[in-house]
Amino acid sequence: MTTFSKGLEGIVAAETAISYIDGTNGILEYVGIPIGELASKSTFEETVFLLWNQRLPTKGELAAFTTDLRARYELPEGMLERIAAAPTDAEPMHVLRTMVSALSMFDPNPNENTVEAARDKALNILAWTPSIVAAFDRNRRGLAPVAPDTSLGFSANFLYMLNDTKPTDAMIRAFDICMITHADHGLNNSTFTARVIISTLSDMYSAITGAIGSLRGPLHGGANEGVMKMLNEIDSVADAEAYVMGKFERKERIMGFGHRVYKAKDPRATELMSLAKQLADDTGNSDLYEKSHAIEQIMDREVAAKGIYPNVDFYSATTYHCIGLKLDLFTPMFALSRIAGWAGHVIEQLGDNRLFRPTVNYVGPHNVPYVPIDER
Ligand code: ACO
Repeated sequence: MTTFSKGLEGIVAAETAISYIDGTNGILEYVGIPIGELASKSTFEETVFLLWNQRLPTKGELAAFTTDLRARYELPEGMLERIAAAPTDAEPMHVLRTMVSALSMFDPNPNENTVEAARDKALNILAWTPSIVAAFDRNRRGLAPVAPDTSLGFSANFLYMLNDTKPTDAMIRAFDICMITHADHGLNNSTFTARVIISTLSDMYSAITGAIGSLRGPLHGGANEGVMKMLNEIDSVADAEAYVMGKFERKERIMGFGHRVYKAKDPRATELMSLAKQLADDTGNSDLYEKSHAIEQIMDREVAAKGIYPNVDFYSATTYHCIGLKLDLFTPMFALSRIAGWAGHVIEQLGDNRLFRPTVNYVGPHNVPYVPIDER
């Protein structure tokens, strides 16, 4: 018995205890905890522990986990030189993908796939990737990399390494909320990619590298950059209507809207919407929020009946801009967070693995005679 579903829509391809999505009612839970609860009460470190252990840590466990993560912030020797060798006009997502792949060469046992080894590799990758993004961005600006500060948490340390100044508490918290809300999301395309790769018993680095490649596509995590470009193309709130309707006439998509699973507003968009408004007001970017809000209202009127609502990328664009991030760092930010989810799924897959190997409907010809090259 075979079933064909273009884009694998409606196909259940794995079981997970990590995150749950109810697309009809707009619910997302990590290990049963609603995303809104985590966004308002948790930290990124605690959320990672939750995703990797399927329970919240005790005080002692969280302290130990955080200490362990911070102790790993420093990149392996030789990595900074590799980052510096990247062309300064390369896209950060290509650099990140390449450098995560390169990390495997510094691991004496890159192919070890016990659950314990996979967790260890995941913690290293999580600790190192902020340094990769920050060092590359500084390098292309002609600035020396900033060494990580182990007294700082994940979010604060990243912003510090990027800007060489200690971020404000408000910026740290905003960034942490972004990291929490982007950390996992069922069997999305990049997570599926990671699970497919590890199902061959390949290795953690290959799985995360492949997932980064998937995430950067404009139909997936790359949409946050598309949203920002759109907001920049709209001069004022008054122009939003003509802009959106023009896109519909040309049959173009509005980035940051629509989702394979959600047919209601993505709960992450709800969380990020209030964060974006607050940050936009605080940083003199209210126009970005106002334009976004206007687009949402037009989309609501035009396509909500088709189940097209804002997704996570819509308000994350304004949020990242207000945090002071350059446009081409938006998708890398998504990746820094989603590494938590990818790694959790890799560990879960390793715990009960079966090779992914779907079939394909062959639609080409049969029994075609071979024509020698001189006769073609
Ligand atoms: N703008 C306008 N119309 C849209 C949009 C959109 N953003 N998204 C879907 N539609 C329409 C399609 O044109 C199609 O209409 P039709 O049936 O009249 O032809 C219908 O909705 C269904 O679209 P599909 O592409 O079949 O839906 P699918 O589930 O395959 O796509 C996707 C989901 C790729 C996310 C899509 O909604 C999209 O392209 N959105 C814009 C890109 C984006 O924001 N991606 C981020 C998703 S969240 C994430 O990955 C982190």
